[in-house]
Parts: sequence; C-alpha cells; structure tokens
Amino acid sequence: MSKINLKKLENQAKKDIKKAENLKELNLVFSRYLGKKGELNSVLRSLEKLSLKEKAKIGKKANFIKSFLKTEIEKKSSLIKEKERVQAEDWFDVTVPGKKITLGHLHPLTLARRKVEEIFQSMGFFVAEGPDMEKEWYNFDALNIPKDHPARDLWDTFYLKNGLLLRTHTSPVQVRYMEKNNPPLRIIVPGNVFRHEATDASHEFQLFQVEGLMVDREISVANLKAVVGQFFKSFFEKDINFRLRPDYFPFTEPSFDIAIECLVCRGKKCPACKETGWMEVAGAGMVHPNVFKNSGLIPAPLADGWQGWAFGFGLERMAMLKYKINDIRLFRSNDLRFLKQF
Ligand code: PHE
Repeated sequence: MSKINLKKLENQAKKDIKKAENLKELNLVFSRYLGKKGELNSVLRSLEKLSLKEKAKIGKKANFIKSFLKTEIEKKSSLIKEKERVQAEDWFDVTVPGKKITLGHLHPLTLARRKVEEIFQSMGFFVAEGPDMEKEWYNFDALNIPKDHPARDLWDTFYLKNGLLLRTHTSPVQVRYMEKNNPPLRIIVPGNVFRHEATDASHEFQLFQVEGLMVDREISVANLKAVVGQFFKSFFEKDINFRLRPDYFPFTEPSFDIAIECLVCRGKKCPACKETGWMEVAGAGMVHPNVFKNSGLIPAPLADGWQGWAFGFGLERMAMLKYKINDIRLFRSNDLRFLKQF
C-alpha cells in the first residue's frame, strides 16, 4: 500500500462522508473506512509485510487519517442529528386530532344577571346602579327606617371607618335614582349587598340583589303582578305559578313576599321547598309615601302625586332555582368543578 493510495482513500472517504444523508448511510461509511474490517485497518494490517521504516511512516499517516476521519464523521453525525431534530419539530401530522382548547366560563351569577337585565330591558326598564359603600341615610333613614327603628335589626350591616356602611340591599338606589330622575320611570338595579350574617347552605353575607322600581301616576299591585309574572315566565322559560302574601317592609305599604310554586315538585310539597310547595324569592310592595318625600317627590293621593311599586329579589336564589344548585356558598367558593358546569 503506497502513500498515494492512502491519499486516495482519504479523499474518497471525505466524499462519502459528505454524501451521507442520514445516520444509516453515515454508519455504513464508518464501517467501510474505520470498521474492524474497514479499509484503514486493512492498510494497517498490510503493513506487516513492509520494512520497519515504511511501517513507521505509513502507519503514522494511516493513524492520522483514521482519527481525522473519525472527527469528520462525528461532526457530520451531529449535523445530521440537528437537521433531523429541526425536521421533526416542523413536521405536522394532519391526521392527529386537535388539542381541545379550554374556554373560560361565565359565572352562573353573571349568566343569571344578564338574563334578568335582558328580560327587563325588553319591558322598557333601565338598568341603574348605586354604590356598594352607602350612606346610612340612603340605606336606612330615607327608606323610612329611622335610627331607633327595630327594623334596622333585619338589615344588620358592616359599618366602615370612613363613616359609610356596606349597603344591605339595593333599595337605597330607589331614592338615589328618584332624586335625579323625574317619573314616570322604570328601573332595575342589580348589585352586591352585604349582611352581617352567619353562612349556611341558604345564607351568605354577600349577596347579589336585583331591585325593581316602577313609578307613574296610576300604578297598582296589578302592574307589579303583571311585570313579575312575565319576568318569571321568561327567566325560567316556562309558566310559573306565584303568589303574593302580606309582609312587612318599612319602605313599602302594603308589602308582600313573593313566592313561586316549587319548581321541583310543582306545589306537591317536597324537601326542596321544605314541604310547603312554595319558594320565597322576593320582597315587594307599593312605594311608601315617605320614600317619595325623601326623594323629593310628591306622593299620591296628593295633587300631582306619584305612585309606584318596588321589589327586590336575590339573584343567587333565582340562579339556584334555574340551574338546580343546592348550596348558596358554591357561588363564591371559586370551585372550578362547580364553575365549569355553566
Ligand atoms: N330591600 C328588601 C330586602 O332586601 C327587599 C324589598 C325591595 C322589599 C323592594 C320591598 C321592596 O329585603
């Protein structure tokens, strides 16, 4: 084996390495030149027949080429691997089913609130709002609940250091709205309210209420019944039996509690309605003359006087009935297992 042949072998090997397109081909190149039975080894083996001087010379050269080719093959190998990695990343299997994109959910109270607003807006009601932090005047006095009135107990609340309190109902917005807007008017007031209350499956210290108020010259309980009936029908998407029973609120006279026939047993009495066949959902009544006066309006039957009705219901209660939820605490517990169902 001469020097020329070695050079030729080296050149051929370099060409083959360059040509190799994948690891399999590169492995073949490796065994062909550097393998046990490879060409370089056979060169080294054939040295035996040569003189000592030549052995040393050619042997040295052959070993040099061997290690050179080895590095070349390694370089090429990492190049191929990198290329394959990039290709694998770019590769797109159109037959693989897509990943499901998880969408957020609207909170059941948001859903219920939107539905309520939509229904009342369709009946010509305007959606008004008021502050969560309220003056004692609006939450109590203006609503005919003076300081020494025992009814204050019903709406025990949190008094804040800034002299305000957390409103216990949305009724203060009746007064706020009538101060600024002249009747005839029709509004609903959705909003958070707070109660100094121990929690259980049907009580929370933070609630979402919707107030309703309609004021005009000749407004009666019949108007209240008509509007509320239409609302129930649209909200629950079926005919709903409901009843008004006498109740007491300082800011309405007469006052009622409104109950709907139990949605679970349809009035036949079951545990859901505590065996009564009815579910209380709202307080309501004809706006008390003092509330009109405190809002700067003249109450009927005085000349140019106004009449009106108001109601207030808890949105949680309505949503519980609509979506069949059995614990009010679920609404604000941020439990995804609950929230994902809507
Ligand atoms: N504000 C009352 C409550 O929170 C409900 C109500 C509203 C009653 C309007 C009558 C009229 O209990």
